Amino acid sequence: MSFADKVIYQIYPKSFYDSTGSGVGDLRGVIEKVSYIASLGVDMVWFNPFFASPQKDNGYDISNYYAIEPSMGTMSDLEELIAALDEHGIGVMFDMVFNHVSTEHEWFQRALAGEKEYQDFFYLQPAQVNGSLPTNWKSKFGGPAWEPFGDTNLYYLHLYDVSQADLNWHNPRVRQELFNVVNFWRDKGVRGFRFDVINVIGKDEVLLDAPEGTLDKLMYTDTPRVHTWVKEMNRASFGNDANSVTVGELSSTTIENGVLYSAPARDELSMIFSFHHLKVDYDAGNKWSRVPFDFEALKGLWHGWAEGVQAGNGWNALFLNNHDQPRALNRFGDVETYRVESATMLAAAVHLSRGTPYIYMGEEIGMVDPVYSSMDDYVDVEAHNAFATLRESGLSEAQAFEVVVSKARDNSRTPMQWDASAHAGFTSGTPWLGTADYAEINVEAEQREGKILPFYKKLIALRHEYPVISRGRYTPWVADHRSVYAFTRQDGEGSAATELLVLNNFYGEATDVSVPERFIGGQVLISNYSADAPTSGAYRLLPYQTLAVLIQGGQ
Ligand code: NOJ
Repeated sequence: MSFADKVIYQIYPKSFYDSTGSGVGDLRGVIEKVSYIASLGVDMVWFNPFFASPQKDNGYDISNYYAIEPSMGTMSDLEELIAALDEHGIGVMFDMVFNHVSTEHEWFQRALAGEKEYQDFFYLQPAQVNGSLPTNWKSKFGGPAWEPFGDTNLYYLHLYDVSQADLNWHNPRVRQELFNVVNFWRDKGVRGFRFDVINVIGKDEVLLDAPEGTLDKLMYTDTPRVHTWVKEMNRASFGNDANSVTVGELSSTTIENGVLYSAPARDELSMIFSFHHLKVDYDAGNKWSRVPFDFEALKGLWHGWAEGVQAGNGWNALFLNNHDQPRALNRFGDVETYRVESATMLAAAVHLSRGTPYIYMGEEIGMVDPVYSSMDDYVDVEAHNAFATLRESGLSEAQAFEVVVSKARDNSRTPMQWDASAHAGFTSGTPWLGTADYAEINVEAEQREGKILPFYKKLIALRHEYPVISRGRYTPWVADHRSVYAFTRQDGEGSAATELLVLNNFYGEATDVSVPERFIGGQVLISNYSADAPTSGAYRLLPYQTLAVLIQGGQ
C-alpha cells in the first residue's frame, strides 16, 4: 500500500499565508512556506478547494473546476506550487467537491436559462400535491433542502447551502464531466484526491419524503449505487495509477460501508474519513450543544473502527482536526494547564494507530480556538444559521453564542500563526477571519523552544521508519480503563514479531495502567515526558502522558 507509511498535511489555503496583503491566504503564500512544510517530513499536502468560487461556503461552492479562485492566485502559481512541493518529494491532494456545484456554475446558470440538457444535471422537482416542498429533507446547514428554481414551478435540491445545488449523478454526462475534472488534474501531476461528502451522491432518481419518525439522511446516505459510481470513477480516472492516494469523506457512515469503500479488492478508494469519534461531545447527537466529551464513547469508537475496518481489510484516515472541526485541543485536551502535554498525547493517539494520519495546519504547534466576542466575528454560514436556529429554539443570545463558540467551524479556520508579529505574521493587511491567541503559540516560538512541533516531526519519522506503525495489527488494550486509551500494534508473528504498546492518559490526573508482561523492559519509542520503560506489570501515567513501548522481533 503506497499510503500506509505516509503522513498527510492539510492546508486551508485561505488561512495559511497571505503573500499580497489582501487578508486572504493565497497560493504564492504557500509557495513561500514550502520549506516549512518540507521541514515537517510529511509526504503529501491536502489543499482545501482553491477553485473559482463565490465563497459562500469557503470554496466548497465551486463555480469552475478548471479555474483558480482569483483571490488565491493563478494556474501558473498552482503549477509552480506543485513543482515546488515535488522538489521535496511531497505530493498534492486536491479536494473534489462532486456532490454539488455553486449555483453560479455555468451548468446551473444554463439550467436556469431553460436549457433542458443542463436541467438534467440537477435534482429538480415540483411541490407535492398537498403543496409542501418536494421532500421533507433538511439542509445540513439548516432550513429545508429545497429552494425555488428560478421562476418555474420546480425546486432544486441542496443538501448544503442554498448556493450549493446537488448534482444528479444518474445523468451519465454529469459523471463523465466530473471524471474529466479528475483527469485534468492528474495530467497536471496531482496524485491525491479527497472526495467531498462522496457517500451522499447516490440519491434515488425521484426523491421522496423520509417516512415519519425516520432520519432523512437514511434516504440518501451510502446507497449501493454510491459504490457503483465510485468504482466507475476509479476505472475512469485514478484507478490505473498505483501511486494515487484517494480518500472519501463519509458523512454518517458505517464500518461496513467504510470497508466497502476502502478495501483494496473493491477498487474504490484508498481510505475513508469517518466522523463518529468527533461527535462524542454532542448532546444526544445534536452538534449545536455544549457538553463535555464522552471518553468512553471516544475510546469505544476508536477501538471499534480500528478493529472493524482492519477485519475487512479497509483503511482509515486518522485525524482529530480539520477545517470543519473546532480544535481538538479545546475539545479533548486542557488548553489552560496542560496544553503541551495534551497536544502531544492526542497526536500520539492518532499517529500510532492503524491508518494514515492527517495533520491539520497549526495542530503541529498546538493552536487553539480563537476567543471571539460576538457573532460578527464569525464568518461561516453554518455558524450564523445555527445561531439563528438556537435563538428560535428559545436560547438567550448569550446561551446561543456559547454553543456557537464551542462548535463553530471558524474555530479551526483562523489564520496560521507564524510568529508573534501583528496578525500572527499571516498578513500585512486585515485577515479575513480574526486570529486566535498567537503571542506565544506560533511557528517561530515552537521552532525555537517548543515541544509540540518536534514531537510531531518525530511521530512522522517513526511512521516512515517502523513497519509496526504503518502496517502492524491493531488490538485494543485495557479497553475498560476509565482514563486511558491504549492499544498494541503487531508486525510479524511469533518470536519474530515486533510489537508496540501505546498508552494515552486522557486526563489531568496521574493514573495506573497495567502493562502486558512482554513489554516490561522494552524500548521507549516516544513519550511526552522523559519516561523510562515499564519495569513491572503496572505503570503510572502522568497527566496527559503518552508512552509508546517497542519490543523488537527476534530479541
Ligand atoms: C464537507 C466539507 O469539509 C465542508 O467544509 C463543506 O462545507 C461540506 N462538505 C459541503 O461541501
